[in-house]
This record gives sequence, C-alpha cells and structure tokens, in this order.
Amino acid sequence: MALLPILEFPDPRLRTVAAPVDPAWLAEPATQQLIDDMFETMYAAPGIGLAASQVDVHRRFMVIDVSEERERPLVFVNPTLSAHAGEQVYQEGCLSVPGIFADVTRANEITVQALDRHGQPFELRVDGLLAVCIQHEMDHLDGKLFVDYLSPLKREMVRKKLAKQRRQHDAA
Ligand code: NI
Repeated sequence: MALLPILEFPDPRLRTVAAPVDPAWLAEPATQQLIDDMFETMYAAPGIGLAASQVDVHRRFMVIDVSEERERPLVFVNPTLSAHAGEQVYQEGCLSVPGIFADVTRANEITVQALDRHGQPFELRVDGLLAVCIQHEMDHLDGKLFVDYLSPLKREMVRKKLAKQRRQHDAA
C-alpha cells in the first residue's frame, strides 16, 4: 500500500477529461493495487471521496466512503447518472483544493449506474451526502472542480489563498 500524491488546483492536469475504463484493465493486479492505494490515500487525507483524476490517472473511476466508521468503501467505474431530482446545498471541500470550503447546489437524489472494482454492474439510488459526493467526484472525471461553481472573483481568491498557503509551507 502506498500514499499517492494528490494534484492541487490550479494544476492543469485536473482539467483532463478522463477516458472510459476497459473492464479488462480492472482485472490487472496493478489496477487493484491502485484502487487500494486510492482508498488509503483518501482515508489518510482524510477525505470522503477521491477521483482517479486527482492522482493523475485519467480514467473514469473513483473511490468513496461517506460512512462515519470508514467501513463502507465504494468504487464507481464508468459512472453515469440516469436520474436526478430535487436540490440540496452542501458546503463542499476537495482534497485538490485544500482548506477551502464553499456552498454548492446539486441534485438531492440521484440514480447512478457503474461497475464495481471487479467489473460487475450495479445501480444505486441515493440522496444526501453520498449523492453530493458522487456528483462531486464525477465532475473530476470531466475535468471540473467545485470551485468552478463559484464566481470568477471568488475563484481567484481561492487561487491566491492556495498560492499563499503553498509559499508558507515551502518557507517552513
Ligand atoms: Ni474533489
């Protein structure tokens, strides 16, 4: 197991649109190891979701665990939304935008289809935090970040704040 480096905004690699996963790729031991490493990286951060894009792997899959006890790991490969309803506002954060939190409006209830880590198809209908997290991580696979929902002015403030955080970190 290994912790993976996480790309941070405004790294242009986070803007890559990820390619669909070939189910045969899931059968490779290196892919299963990568998924385990993504969980380890997410739990260590700590975070509730991590898209492959964030660790510079531009394929359509993500790992999520929104449970308190960190005991409900979910893998979504080639996820698609077939239905959504309602609206919710949640104060989101992102491991690629450390220390920044902002309200984002998303669908309250979604139906998602995906493959699991072994290539088996499944469908989930979820609401609340898990629905937020799935939508947030699916955005990553399309090169989109939650700060894109903010005004250009606010996004520029986020960019400056992160640059300052990095300078202070480098100086320390
Ligand atoms: Ni994120």
